[in-house]
Amino acid sequence: MSARTRTREVCAAKAEALVKTDALRARRRRITQTVVPGDHIERASGRDHRVLFVVSEMADYIKAGGLGDVAASLPRALRDRADMRVLIPGYREVLERTGPIRVIGQTPAHAALPACVIAHTVLDDGLPVYVLICPELYEREGSPYVDAAGEPWADNAVRFATLSRAAAVIAAGEAGMDWTPGLLHLNDWPCALAAAYVRWSGSKASCLLTIHNLAYQGLFPAELAADLGIGEAQREALDFHGQLSFLRGGIVHADQVNTVSVSYAAQITAPAEGCGLDRLLSRRAALGHLSGIVNGIDSSWDPRTDHHLPVHFSVQSCEGRDHNARHVRRAFGLPESRGPLFAVVSRLVHQKGLDLTCDVAPQIVAAGGQLVIIGGGEPQIEAQVRELARRYPGSVSAYIGFDETLARRMFAGADFLLMPSRFEPCGLSQMYAQRFGCLPIAHATGGLIDTVDDGVTGFLFNAAEADALRRCVQRAFRTFRQSGLMAAMRRAAMLRPSGWDIAGTHYLDLYQRTTEARA
Ligand code: ADP
Ligand code: GLC
Repeated sequence: MSARTRTREVCAAKAEALVKTDALRARRRRITQTVVPGDHIERASGRDHRVLFVVSEMADYIKAGGLGDVAASLPRALRDRADMRVLIPGYREVLERTGPIRVIGQTPAHAALPACVIAHTVLDDGLPVYVLICPELYEREGSPYVDAAGEPWADNAVRFATLSRAAAVIAAGEAGMDWTPGLLHLNDWPCALAAAYVRWSGSKASCLLTIHNLAYQGLFPAELAADLGIGEAQREALDFHGQLSFLRGGIVHADQVNTVSVSYAAQITAPAEGCGLDRLLSRRAALGHLSGIVNGIDSSWDPRTDHHLPVHFSVQSCEGRDHNARHVRRAFGLPESRGPLFAVVSRLVHQKGLDLTCDVAPQIVAAGGQLVIIGGGEPQIEAQVRELARRYPGSVSAYIGFDETLARRMFAGADFLLMPSRFEPCGLSQMYAQRFGCLPIAHATGGLIDTVDDGVTGFLFNAAEADALRRCVQRAFRTFRQSGLMAAMRRAAMLRPSGWDIAGTHYLDLYQRTTEARA
């Protein structure tokens, strides 16, 4: 049987394998209906939207996860069709890596939020970026969110309320700048509060809140309200079991809310994934104010040109992958092997299901596979991963840390990417892996449902449990042994459309609907 016929058979079988609960299907259908009524697309084109994309990380400067990638690629994808500008805090990395920078505005102090300076810079490709400068809040050693010991910065409430407030001041035209956005595109809890500040100030700006991960709400003690300039009457919108939830404030006050895949948008309206906000989100969904748009990935993820790779390759000619695999094995101190190479590229947090990977690793090793892991995060998960590597020298190896080059080489050399996330709003790693011909083995949740074609471009399993992952890994081993099928799936994965074109059009439509809400 030819590889093509076999792939077709696999395609036919995939519907069977993709078993989702009826409830999720129904929710997903409802959410899908709120996305992109086609008649908006014509009107939304043209550079008539002035958009300030507010974000707490951007891969050009500093990245803690996928949000940084999206911040670097989505505004660029929309630039031809909207006036896109980015607002980011002036972290040390931003100030060090930026080119010429010019002060063009300021925001006043407000309650305990300090005054800031706004500077303007332009990235190499012309994307305008506003940098919010406040050395006491942003210029320090550590990630945007946590200190060197991994603890959240003690003043995060003030740091990110200041960012949010600055966005609202700019939107109100009160920052002394010669440009005013019509729409704030807010991303996750660190700037969600901007939607509330906008509403409280009576400004006309429209706000779109994109939830990249509902599990991070930005929860702070209610006693901080006065410091953040939040009055008694305004607190209710933020109240989450007696604490202030920045994300809740954003969800209540934004004109439109979206998340980064259609399936996750559906899931967060149910208690299991709703993080206590499902009823609020359901209400917004019922009004047509909640939608899902699957992230794209940018063109730097191309195995034909990626400068991080020792050897380039393409769909037509994949031999280069073997060389990359040898490179990865060497980098991780593993011996050459004819067995499959499994990879994990992930933040090491509960969400990502590393415990399931650790449970299944002995079977991978026993069946002749090898496993390489790169990641960093929660100390106990880091310790678990180190212990796994110690137990299986020559078969499992781990690098605890962040290394973009090594990560890209792993996608380009490994046969399979393990992604048993308990939940996954979208996930980018599985898309990068597919683009590089590495087949994801993923839990059927959130964006993984929307971006992995089970049995065609990767493998999905239905319960976040070790046994389900184990069975899926066995399928991967069987596929690996059938070289024709493996090659066909690899080709299908590499050809899977995952650029920003479609998502960009959906965002433009959403911008249109968001601004119409205020018209
Ligand atoms: P999340 O944002 O939840 O971490 P995503 O899959 O959306 O998950 O994005 C993760 C991004 O971070 C991807 O670009 C992935 O390649 C990258 N990444 C995660 N951990 C590491 C690491 N240790 N080294 C290099 N890149 C990493
Ligand atoms: C979050 C989510 C991830 C998503 C990323 C970018 O970090 O955990 O699933 O891909 O944001 O939207």
